[in-house]
Amino acid sequence: MSEAPRKILVTSALPYVNGSPHMGHLVEYIQTDIWVRFQKLRGHDCIYVCASDAHGTPIMLKARELGTTPEALTEGYSKEFVDDFGDFHIEFDNYYTTHSPENEELVVGMFERLRETGDIYTRTIEQSYDEKEGMFLPDRFVKGTCPRCKSEDQYGDACEVCGATYSPEDLIDPVSVLSGTTPVKRESEHFFFRLSEYEDRLRDWMEHAALDKNVVAKLDEWFEAGLQDWDISRDAPYFGFRIPGTKDKYFYVWLDAPVGYMASFKHLCDRTDGLVFDDYWNADSQHDVYHFIGKDIMYFHTLFWPAVLKGSGYRQPTSVYAHGFLTVNGQKMSKSRGTFIKARTYLDNLDPEFLRYYYAAKLGPTIEDIDLNFDDFVARVNSDLVGKLVNIASRCAGFINKRFDGELAAELPDASLFAEIAGASESIAGHYERREFSKAMRLIMTLADKANRYIDDHKPWVLARDESRLPEVQRVCTQGINLFRSLMIYLSPVLPAVAAGARQFLNEESWDWRAAGSPLLGSPINTFKPLLTRVDPKQVGKMVEQSKESTPVAEEETRDDTISIDDFAKVDLRIARVERAEPVEGADKLLALTLDVGGSKRQVFAGIKAAYDPDSLVGRHVIVVANLAPRKMRFGLSEGMVLAAGPGGEDIFLLSPDDGAKPGMRVK
Ligand code: 2FM
Ligand code: ZN
Repeated sequence: MSEAPRKILVTSALPYVNGSPHMGHLVEYIQTDIWVRFQKLRGHDCIYVCASDAHGTPIMLKARELGTTPEALTEGYSKEFVDDFGDFHIEFDNYYTTHSPENEELVVGMFERLRETGDIYTRTIEQSYDEKEGMFLPDRFVKGTCPRCKSEDQYGDACEVCGATYSPEDLIDPVSVLSGTTPVKRESEHFFFRLSEYEDRLRDWMEHAALDKNVVAKLDEWFEAGLQDWDISRDAPYFGFRIPGTKDKYFYVWLDAPVGYMASFKHLCDRTDGLVFDDYWNADSQHDVYHFIGKDIMYFHTLFWPAVLKGSGYRQPTSVYAHGFLTVNGQKMSKSRGTFIKARTYLDNLDPEFLRYYYAAKLGPTIEDIDLNFDDFVARVNSDLVGKLVNIASRCAGFINKRFDGELAAELPDASLFAEIAGASESIAGHYERREFSKAMRLIMTLADKANRYIDDHKPWVLARDESRLPEVQRVCTQGINLFRSLMIYLSPVLPAVAAGARQFLNEESWDWRAAGSPLLGSPINTFKPLLTRVDPKQVGKMVEQSKESTPVAEEETRDDTISIDDFAKVDLRIARVERAEPVEGADKLLALTLDVGGSKRQVFAGIKAAYDPDSLVGRHVIVVANLAPRKMRFGLSEGMVLAAGPGGEDIFLLSPDDGAKPGMRVK
């Protein structure tokens, strides 16, 4: 390796923290972590930062729904992310949050600079407003009939049936997802970033950023369509940073989210001697900054972000590396199929390094989706990692441990085979560098085949039967162990814990990339302990079962009727007070209940008309499932479910709490 050490800052997209991390998230963090570990192993000064993306309407509403604050909600989920990432050996140099003083200071600074230059200006716009909830509605919070193909129940930004894009005002019969009421149009003054003026500067950046050709194609498409100025503000209520000089306007989450990369790095600089923020972010910085992202957020990272950085006087990213989505068994992840798997559920059943290896074996530098196929996963892990790689060491270690007192021979009997593996170093490094991980894995496994063939050909177990050939046994096994060692060094960015076990076995403190080129000879090694064990497909089956949120009706008869405590904990049961109960026109069995769930109001349709006189219900306390996804029914939106027992019809009995229960209380 002749390259001079580089200073590199690397980020992964900042996850929204309003849910648990899942297998889809892990693609990116594992990809980035492998790349960062590789850079560090090559001797570069590589820093990996990340943070929780804590702002925005969905987080604010979820906190409200759960009766908590956005701060508490995001802190709770951030902890899950940190724990799960750590258990997958994803090693950040810093993990922070966008809801931080550093971030606010940086965003405000950029905003003020862009205000001064005139790149941020104000304009009054008209938007959908929910009068019942007292808030402007983001596009995804309005649903209605597509103006083009007339499909019902489409979001306010695009039709999932015909692909048309539009604004919520264009929908036919629009409804607020929050309250079920018809939104009105209301004016408000917003702040806009003059993206339309940045095409030339973005084209300049693009030429130097060595973007993947698919990303370039996307950018060309956007240039072709014409860049639109970008609305960077939102009206209260909103969870984010208030815009200076306003009473009730906030920065849109997508303005402060990428600034969160800088803020996390700043937070690290403030605690690290010799690490200087400006060295990395000044416009003339010579260091590298790489963002790893998913293909769905390219627009933000290849248009808005480099433009905002440029306009506010900072450096732009060296490059943006986008990856594709994850499918499982060829399909979108699905809760009912059990393929929407949380990181923790995986960890409860399987070794994290299996997934790191499997993703590495699938990942390339493009935005193509990658598929996690369970049969392939089991086969690859067992054949490559256990059957090929670890097998090399386990076939040789016993002889060295038992027959030679743990001492390796002083020379290699097949120096040219070792040289062949050492000689692949730069090809493998090139693959890692270019994020061609699948090619790197393939090459390493081809070399592992050669190592195994060497052992098959020399059969130390046969040689060992003849005392006079013992020195040969020691040399053959030393050869095998050294081949294993070099391959393990190459794989250590992917398999850090297995690599640590291998180093312990080999009695070595640390490795760098170059170590793969010089064999370990004449030195003592430790007793070999199995570094990995085979995956049993049953473990995968168990993980899938645990991930099934509900069992499809067809399987109901045969299903195991138990649910885990975690499943149970997901159900948010609350006390509610019936404020209004009314028959529903055109529905024989339903009553429309208006419930007070401790501050928030809900409309729920309940099939209890035959059993209850509506007036008798007013004022009564009932138990409601508060976190059931709202369902659009023919008569309106039903926002929960009231618990009752009995076969139905007249024989249905609402469950009621004892006296003392108050609306909003959690049922335990
Ligand atoms: O799409 C997302 O999940 C965003 N939270 C990613 C933000 S990346 C960066 F800009 F902060
Ligand atoms: Zn349509």
